[in-house]
Amino acid sequence: MIKIRAKYILGIESSCDETAASIVKVEKISGQVSVLANIISSQIEIHKKYGGVVPEIAAREHVLNILPVINEALEKAKITEKEIDLIGVTKGPGLITSLITGLETVRALSFAWNKPVLEINHIEGHIYSNFINLTEPIKFPAIILTVSGGHTNLVLMDKNQKIKIIGETLDDAAGEAYDKGAKMLGLGYPGGPIISKLANEFKNNHQLSDLELPRPMLNTPNFNFSFSGLKTSLLYKLQKDKNWKKRQAEYCFAYQEAIIEILIKKTIKAAKKYEAKTVMLSGGVSANEELRTKMAEAVKTNFPKAKFLVPEREYTTDNAAMIATAAAYLINKRKTAPFNKLKVEPSLQLK
Ligand code: KG4
Ligand code: ZN
Repeated sequence: MIKIRAKYILGIESSCDETAASIVKVEKISGQVSVLANIISSQIEIHKKYGGVVPEIAAREHVLNILPVINEALEKAKITEKEIDLIGVTKGPGLITSLITGLETVRALSFAWNKPVLEINHIEGHIYSNFINLTEPIKFPAIILTVSGGHTNLVLMDKNQKIKIIGETLDDAAGEAYDKGAKMLGLGYPGGPIISKLANEFKNNHQLSDLELPRPMLNTPNFNFSFSGLKTSLLYKLQKDKNWKKRQAEYCFAYQEAIIEILIKKTIKAAKKYEAKTVMLSGGVSANEELRTKMAEAVKTNFPKAKFLVPEREYTTDNAAMIATAAAYLINKRKTAPFNKLKVEPSLQLK
């Protein structure tokens, strides 16, 4: 599926609160990318008590975790550093102090091991989580919705795998909407899994809800998103409702319904405009069962000939397998960076 330039690739990801290392293998004949090791040291338990990620703490944890995580990946994959052909590393966007740990570690490894390095954009990485274990080539153009704690954007990918952002959030990201909504509802962090669990419980035990929440920018003539109005609206509803604690699951249901409807409508609209042959989901929020099911149905109904791809769940939230996979594909299209030129690049603009 891809021209082989590298067989074993080490991926490193440290843009937020996950320190991750992965080894992928590019199969010689099929060009398929398979994951030999996907090691993630998550800091969720540490940040939970603050209700969100504390950048300074995240950076310190990355420093402690990064070398053990890389060693574990090599051990799990049963290869030595000598066999690595290429290192892929996240250069941004993300928390600068977190990104620096990954990038500086790769700088040292690249120098010590004499390995080439490919810098990968984090969103690009999420997109390439759909390219892991591919059994048939992807048809283009493709529309990809990336929804995570830090990003919400719609990207168009052409047959040369060039990507262009066609829409993005003007304020909060979809994952952030989940996280902030959960905080208002007195639930923990991260909010996505908790809200989705309660929303499911409500759905399975009740008829429809009469709680009305707005769908900001649903019908605007562009592909941008906005979630802050929805969040504020939830806040006002909770302030007015003395019994909201008894209706917690119902609020989760209504809130999630609003987020998912916006995401699906915009994605389908983009797929129509660009005559997409493939629609993909990626990012932490794409772990959401309701979103996966409803987007699959919407693609099937609107574009029966198009293919819908969604990453396996372990590759939806931040991981390094997606970074290594992006490197496997992009090594044919992008120059490697000399170790003394590696640098954090926070801009969201994809190259
Ligand atoms: O991709 P990710 O790990 O980090 C960023 O790049 O930001 O995404 C994390 C986000 C969090 O906001 C979390 O609440 C959300 O993904 N998330 C979910 C689910 N699992 C994680 N949102 C909705 N439903 C889920 N099941
Ligand atoms: Zn991410």
